[in-house]
Amino acid sequence: MTALAGWIAWGASGHAKVLRECLSDRGVPLAAVFDNEPSVAAPFPDVPLFIGREGFASWRQAHPSTYGFVVAIGGARGQVRCELHTWLESEGLVSMSAIHRTAFVASDAKLAAGCHVLATAAVCVGVELGRQTIINTGATVDHECSLGDGVHIGPGAHVGGCVAIEDHAFVGIGASILPRVRIGRGATIGAGAVVTMDVPAGTTVVGVPARPMRNP
Ligand SMILES: CC(C)(COP(=O)(O)OP(=O)(O)OC[C@H]1O[C@@H](n2cnc3c(N)ncnc32)[C@H](O)[C@@H]1OP(=O)(O)O)[C@@H](O)C(=O)NCCC(=O)NCCS
Repeated sequence: MTALAGWIAWGASGHAKVLRECLSDRGVPLAAVFDNEPSVAAPFPDVPLFIGREGFASWRQAHPSTYGFVVAIGGARGQVRCELHTWLESEGLVSMSAIHRTAFVASDAKLAAGCHVLATAAVCVGVELGRQTIINTGATVDHECSLGDGVHIGPGAHVGGCVAIEDHAFVGIGASILPRVRIGRGATIGAGAVVTMDVPAGTTVVGVPARPMRNP
Protein backbone atom coordinates (compact mmCIF):
# COMPACT_ATOMS: atom_id res chain seq x y z
CA MET A 1 0.00 0.00 0.00
CA THR A 2 1.27 3.50 -0.86
CA ALA A 3 2.60 5.41 2.16
CA LEU A 4 0.28 8.23 3.15
CA ALA A 5 1.57 11.83 3.19
CA GLY A 6 -0.99 12.47 5.94
CA TRP A 7 -4.70 12.21 6.57
CA ILE A 8 -7.66 14.55 6.58
CA ALA A 9 -10.86 14.65 8.62
CA TRP A 10 -14.15 15.65 7.01
CA GLY A 11 -16.14 17.08 9.91
CA ALA A 12 -14.89 19.56 12.54
CA SER A 13 -17.00 18.40 15.47
CA GLY A 14 -15.97 16.61 18.67
CA HIS A 15 -15.81 13.36 16.69
CA ALA A 16 -12.76 14.78 14.85
CA LYS A 17 -11.02 15.24 18.23
CA VAL A 18 -11.88 11.67 19.22
CA LEU A 19 -10.51 10.32 15.92
CA ARG A 20 -7.29 12.33 16.12
CA GLU A 21 -6.55 10.82 19.53
CA CYS A 22 -7.50 7.37 18.21
CA LEU A 23 -5.13 7.67 15.24
CA SER A 24 -2.29 9.33 17.17
CA ASP A 25 -0.15 6.16 17.14
CA ARG A 26 -0.28 5.69 13.33
CA GLY A 27 2.72 7.98 12.77
CA VAL A 28 0.86 9.89 10.02
CA PRO A 29 0.05 13.58 10.57
CA LEU A 30 -3.42 15.12 10.42
CA ALA A 31 -2.99 17.56 7.51
CA ALA A 32 -6.34 19.38 7.30
CA VAL A 33 -9.93 19.45 8.55
CA PHE A 34 -12.98 20.16 6.35
CA ASP A 35 -16.56 21.04 7.19
CA ASN A 36 -19.56 22.27 5.19
CA GLU A 37 -20.65 24.73 7.91
CA PRO A 38 -18.93 28.13 7.43
CA SER A 39 -19.44 29.17 11.08
CA VAL A 40 -17.83 26.07 12.58
CA ALA A 41 -14.87 26.65 14.93
CA ALA A 42 -11.52 25.09 14.00
CA PRO A 43 -11.11 22.09 16.34
CA PHE A 44 -7.28 22.17 16.37
CA PRO A 45 -5.00 25.22 16.62
CA ASP A 46 -2.27 23.45 14.64
CA VAL A 47 -4.36 22.11 11.73
CA PRO A 48 -5.95 24.30 9.01
CA LEU A 49 -9.74 24.24 8.53
CA PHE A 50 -11.29 24.50 5.05
CA ILE A 51 -14.96 25.01 4.24
CA GLY A 52 -16.94 22.86 1.79
CA ARG A 53 -15.99 21.28 -1.51
CA GLU A 54 -14.50 24.56 -2.76
CA GLY A 55 -12.15 24.58 0.21
CA PHE A 56 -11.29 20.97 -0.53
CA ALA A 57 -10.56 21.73 -4.20
CA SER A 58 -8.06 24.49 -3.31
CA TRP A 59 -6.38 22.31 -0.65
CA ARG A 60 -6.19 19.32 -3.02
CA GLN A 61 -4.59 21.39 -5.78
CA ALA A 62 -1.74 22.23 -3.40
CA HIS A 63 -1.60 18.67 -1.95
CA PRO A 64 -1.81 16.14 -4.80
CA SER A 65 -0.03 13.29 -2.93
CA THR A 66 -1.80 10.27 -1.46
CA TYR A 67 -3.71 11.21 1.70
CA GLY A 68 -5.95 9.12 3.91
CA PHE A 69 -9.36 10.30 5.13
CA VAL A 70 -11.80 9.77 7.95
CA VAL A 71 -15.38 11.04 8.00
CA ALA A 72 -15.70 12.69 11.42
CA ILE A 73 -19.48 13.01 11.55
CA GLY A 74 -21.37 11.17 14.29
CA GLY A 75 -25.02 11.22 15.37
CA ALA A 76 -27.66 9.84 13.05
CA ARG A 77 -25.95 11.03 9.85
CA GLY A 78 -24.83 7.65 8.55
CA GLN A 79 -26.09 8.28 5.04
CA VAL A 80 -24.07 11.52 4.87
CA ARG A 81 -20.98 9.61 6.07
CA CYS A 82 -21.41 7.03 3.31
CA GLU A 83 -21.92 9.68 0.60
CA LEU A 84 -18.79 11.55 1.72
CA HIS A 85 -16.84 8.27 1.76
CA THR A 86 -17.76 7.57 -1.88
CA TRP A 87 -16.91 11.12 -2.95
CA LEU A 88 -13.55 11.32 -1.13
CA GLU A 89 -12.50 8.00 -2.69
CA SER A 90 -13.44 9.38 -6.11
CA GLU A 91 -11.09 12.30 -5.34
CA GLY A 92 -8.22 9.82 -4.90
CA LEU A 93 -8.06 9.74 -1.09
CA VAL A 94 -7.69 6.47 0.83
CA SER A 95 -10.26 5.45 3.44
CA MET A 96 -8.84 4.83 6.93
CA SER A 97 -10.43 2.79 9.69
CA ALA A 98 -9.99 3.98 13.29
CA ILE A 99 -9.67 1.13 15.78
CA HIS A 100 -8.67 2.40 19.22
CA ARG A 101 -5.75 0.64 20.90
CA THR A 102 -8.01 -0.31 23.84
CA ALA A 103 -10.84 -1.73 21.70
CA PHE A 104 -11.45 -5.47 21.30
CA VAL A 105 -12.09 -6.75 17.78
CA ALA A 106 -12.48 -10.53 17.40
CA SER A 107 -10.07 -12.14 14.96
CA ASP A 108 -12.87 -13.30 12.65
CA ALA A 109 -14.89 -10.06 12.73
CA LYS A 110 -15.29 -8.47 9.29
CA LEU A 111 -15.03 -4.69 9.18
CA ALA A 112 -15.72 -2.82 5.93
CA ALA A 113 -13.80 0.34 5.05
CA GLY A 114 -13.98 3.44 7.22
CA CYS A 115 -15.27 1.87 10.45
CA HIS A 116 -14.56 3.48 13.84
CA VAL A 117 -14.27 1.24 16.90
CA LEU A 118 -13.51 3.62 19.76
CA ALA A 119 -11.94 3.34 23.21
CA THR A 120 -12.87 0.17 25.17
CA ALA A 121 -15.56 -0.85 22.65
CA ALA A 122 -15.95 -4.54 21.77
CA VAL A 123 -16.76 -6.17 18.43
CA CYS A 124 -17.20 -9.86 19.20
CA VAL A 125 -16.88 -13.14 17.36
CA GLY A 126 -18.52 -13.46 13.94
CA VAL A 127 -19.64 -9.80 13.75
CA GLU A 128 -19.87 -8.01 10.40
CA LEU A 129 -19.74 -4.20 10.19
CA GLY A 130 -20.62 -2.27 7.03
CA ARG A 131 -18.80 0.75 5.63
CA GLN A 132 -18.62 3.89 7.81
CA THR A 133 -20.10 2.19 10.85
CA ILE A 134 -19.22 3.60 14.29
CA ILE A 135 -18.98 1.54 17.47
CA ASN A 136 -18.59 4.40 19.94
CA THR A 137 -16.79 4.56 23.29
CA GLY A 138 -17.53 1.60 25.55
CA ALA A 139 -20.23 0.13 23.28
CA THR A 140 -20.41 -3.63 22.72
CA VAL A 141 -21.63 -5.65 19.75
CA ASP A 142 -21.98 -9.30 20.71
CA HIS A 143 -21.53 -12.50 18.69
CA GLU A 144 -22.70 -12.89 15.11
CA CYS A 145 -24.35 -9.49 14.73
CA SER A 146 -24.66 -8.01 11.28
CA LEU A 147 -24.56 -4.20 10.99
CA GLY A 148 -25.05 -2.41 7.67
CA ASP A 149 -23.42 0.69 6.21
CA GLY A 150 -23.39 3.97 8.14
CA VAL A 151 -24.73 2.47 11.38
CA HIS A 152 -23.82 4.24 14.66
CA ILE A 153 -23.85 2.44 18.02
CA GLY A 154 -23.64 5.25 20.59
CA PRO A 155 -21.39 5.39 23.66
CA GLY A 156 -22.08 2.64 26.19
CA ALA A 157 -24.84 0.99 24.16
CA HIS A 158 -25.03 -2.81 24.11
CA VAL A 159 -26.13 -4.99 21.21
CA GLY A 160 -26.96 -8.62 22.04
CA GLY A 161 -25.99 -11.62 19.93
CA CYS A 162 -27.35 -12.29 16.43
CA VAL A 163 -28.89 -8.81 16.11
CA ALA A 164 -29.30 -7.36 12.58
CA ILE A 165 -29.07 -3.58 12.17
CA GLU A 166 -29.75 -2.16 8.72
CA ASP A 167 -28.02 0.75 6.97
CA HIS A 168 -27.89 4.21 8.64
CA ALA A 169 -29.66 3.16 11.86
CA PHE A 170 -28.60 5.00 15.03
CA VAL A 171 -28.54 3.56 18.55
CA GLY A 172 -28.39 6.25 21.27
CA ILE A 173 -26.17 6.39 24.35
CA GLY A 174 -26.63 3.51 26.78
CA ALA A 175 -29.40 1.73 24.85
CA SER A 176 -29.66 -2.08 24.93
CA ILE A 177 -30.78 -4.25 22.03
CA LEU A 178 -31.90 -7.74 23.01
CA PRO A 179 -30.56 -10.77 21.08
CA ARG A 180 -31.94 -11.65 17.63
CA VAL A 181 -33.82 -8.35 17.21
CA ARG A 182 -33.82 -6.62 13.76
CA ILE A 183 -33.47 -2.84 13.55
CA GLY A 184 -34.71 -1.43 10.23
CA ARG A 185 -32.92 0.94 7.86
CA GLY A 186 -32.59 4.47 9.22
CA ALA A 187 -34.30 3.67 12.53
CA THR A 188 -33.35 5.65 15.68
CA ILE A 189 -33.13 4.06 19.11
CA GLY A 190 -33.35 6.72 21.85
CA ALA A 191 -30.73 7.01 24.57
CA GLY A 192 -31.32 4.46 27.34
CA ALA A 193 -33.98 2.48 25.47
CA VAL A 194 -34.30 -1.28 25.89
CA VAL A 195 -35.34 -2.79 22.56
CA THR A 196 -37.17 -6.09 22.99
CA MET A 197 -38.72 -6.48 19.52
CA ASP A 198 -38.02 -5.61 15.88
CA VAL A 199 -38.03 -1.91 14.95
CA PRO A 200 -39.37 -0.98 11.48
CA ALA A 201 -37.29 1.13 9.08
CA GLY A 202 -37.31 4.87 9.77
CA THR A 203 -38.99 4.51 13.17
CA THR A 204 -37.80 6.24 16.38
CA VAL A 205 -38.31 4.27 19.59
CA VAL A 206 -37.65 5.31 23.20
CA GLY A 207 -38.12 3.95 26.70
CA VAL A 208 -38.11 0.66 28.59
CA PRO A 209 -39.38 -1.39 26.88
CA ALA A 210 -38.87 0.69 23.74
CA ARG A 211 -41.98 2.01 22.02
CA PRO A 212 -42.39 4.30 18.98
CA MET A 213 -42.27 8.03 19.81
CA ARG A 214 -45.58 9.76 19.29
CA ASN A 215 -44.23 12.69 17.18
CA PRO A 216 -40.57 12.03 16.40
C1 LIG B 1 -34.87 9.87 20.81
C2 LIG B 1 -34.29 11.19 20.34
C3 LIG B 1 -33.61 10.98 18.97
C4 LIG B 1 -35.46 12.15 20.18
O1 LIG B 1 -35.00 13.41 19.83
P1 LIG B 1 -36.07 14.57 19.56
O2 LIG B 1 -36.98 14.14 18.45
O3 LIG B 1 -35.30 15.83 19.37
O4 LIG B 1 -36.94 14.57 20.89
P2 LIG B 1 -37.20 15.73 21.95
O5 LIG B 1 -35.94 16.08 22.66
O6 LIG B 1 -37.96 16.82 21.24
O7 LIG B 1 -38.17 15.01 22.98
C5 LIG B 1 -39.50 14.66 22.63
C6 LIG B 1 -40.10 13.89 23.81
O8 LIG B 1 -39.48 12.61 23.91
C7 LIG B 1 -38.85 12.46 25.21
N1 LIG B 1 -37.57 11.79 24.97
C8 LIG B 1 -36.55 12.22 24.20
N2 LIG B 1 -35.55 11.33 24.19
C9 LIG B 1 -35.94 10.33 25.00
C10 LIG B 1 -35.31 9.13 25.39
N3 LIG B 1 -34.10 8.81 24.94
N4 LIG B 1 -35.99 8.32 26.23
C11 LIG B 1 -37.20 8.65 26.69
N5 LIG B 1 -37.87 9.78 26.34
C12 LIG B 1 -37.22 10.61 25.51
C13 LIG B 1 -38.66 13.88 25.71
O9 LIG B 1 -38.60 13.93 27.12
C14 LIG B 1 -39.88 14.56 25.16
O10 LIG B 1 -41.00 14.20 25.96
P3 LIG B 1 -42.23 15.21 26.19
O11 LIG B 1 -42.81 15.46 24.83
O12 LIG B 1 -43.13 14.46 27.11
O13 LIG B 1 -41.63 16.44 26.78
C15 LIG B 1 -33.23 11.77 21.31
O14 LIG B 1 -33.79 12.34 22.46
C16 LIG B 1 -32.17 10.76 21.73
O15 LIG B 1 -32.35 9.94 22.65
N6 LIG B 1 -31.05 10.85 21.04
C17 LIG B 1 -29.87 10.06 21.33
C18 LIG B 1 -28.66 10.99 21.49
C19 LIG B 1 -27.40 10.22 21.62
O16 LIG B 1 -27.34 9.15 22.19
N7 LIG B 1 -26.33 10.74 21.02
C20 LIG B 1 -25.04 10.07 20.97
C21 LIG B 1 -24.04 11.01 20.39
S1 LIG B 1 -22.47 10.26 20.32
